Amino acid sequence: MNASGHERTLRIAAIAGDGIGPEIVGASLPVIAAAARLDRVRVEVTELDWGGERLLRTGAAMPEDATAVVREHDAILLGAVGHPQLTPDVSVWSLVLPLRKELDLYVNLRPIRALENVDSPVVDLAGTDFVVVRENTEGEYSGIGGRVHSGGAHEVATDVAVHSRRALTRIGRYAFGLARERGQRLTLVTKSNVSRHGYALWDEVIGELGAAEFPDVPFELAFVDAMATRMIERPRSLGVLLCSNLFGDILSDLGAVLQGGLGMAASANLCPGGGVPGVFEPVHGSAPDIAGKGIANPLATILSGALLLRENGCPLGAAALEEAISATVGRAEATTPDIGGTADTVTAANAVMDEFEAATP
Ligand code: IPM
Ligand code: MG
Repeated sequence: MNASGHERTLRIAAIAGDGIGPEIVGASLPVIAAAARLDRVRVEVTELDWGGERLLRTGAAMPEDATAVVREHDAILLGAVGHPQLTPDVSVWSLVLPLRKELDLYVNLRPIRALENVDSPVVDLAGTDFVVVRENTEGEYSGIGGRVHSGGAHEVATDVAVHSRRALTRIGRYAFGLARERGQRLTLVTKSNVSRHGYALWDEVIGELGAAEFPDVPFELAFVDAMATRMIERPRSLGVLLCSNLFGDILSDLGAVLQGGLGMAASANLCPGGGVPGVFEPVHGSAPDIAGKGIANPLATILSGALLLRENGCPLGAAALEEAISATVGRAEATTPDIGGTADTVTAANAVMDEFEAATP
């Protein structure tokens, strides 16, 4: 019950998307809805058939009023994007990137927490708990560029990386705030030794912001190549990693390995204070090779659901999901093959539900 004694409704727009998307979203939604009840919140789901199939059928992955439709909701749960009959750029530029841009979801949050009982090629991970904060609107994802002299020996192509003071300031403020809240160091990941315009601006803006507004938060600079090594060799030394759009994309896949692979990695796309729904999605893709087999790991989607609940005023449900996942991952009969188990998608999702229902009276 909330203060007035009423149950609140949380409206989720579910975009299952392509490949394994429908399987993982279908299995995860009931688990997320059950967890929300711990916060006295009732989940109401609108299923949206947006994605590759729709594009092939109608010419557009989303309807024209897509942003208006999702704005009627509190949050968006997105399964996966990438249809085998479409080129990868068409898949992503027709759905996930427009959503991020049109809703101005400038924060892409990707927590990386090593769980006991989950194998990783990287050993000695106990206590690893950091988060990638990825700038989500510009950088190498600006969409600006072009090609000339098509097919000829003199063909030239450009993709312009855009870095603006406004975008750096707002993502910097979010990342510093998060580091303060978590009691951790902020590490800014750039490549300003080579990219001496764009990434130099990052170093300057974030450095000045820290000195002016967050002098209490420990701060350091790192180059992205050195960070790739450090994530493997000394992951416990990391707290909050602030990255550009592309560096955050790459390093979060590397981070996924530390927590058991892409089947375990969750993300949230947010516009803090913007009054728009966030997009919560597993970091993995549509995995066409296993689509339809019912063996995809639902845990990245359920963990994304935990982020969704936490961002939408359901802290009890969020914590319950995370704890239940920690408890199921050691058990072969409750987990999918990618993390060493024997269960199918639905069994793995239901095991999480059983676990938190057993843990809560
Ligand atoms: C991710 C994905 C996306 C990205 C693609 C699908 C556009 O790789 O969310 O990490 O590059 O951001
Ligand atoms: Mg990626």
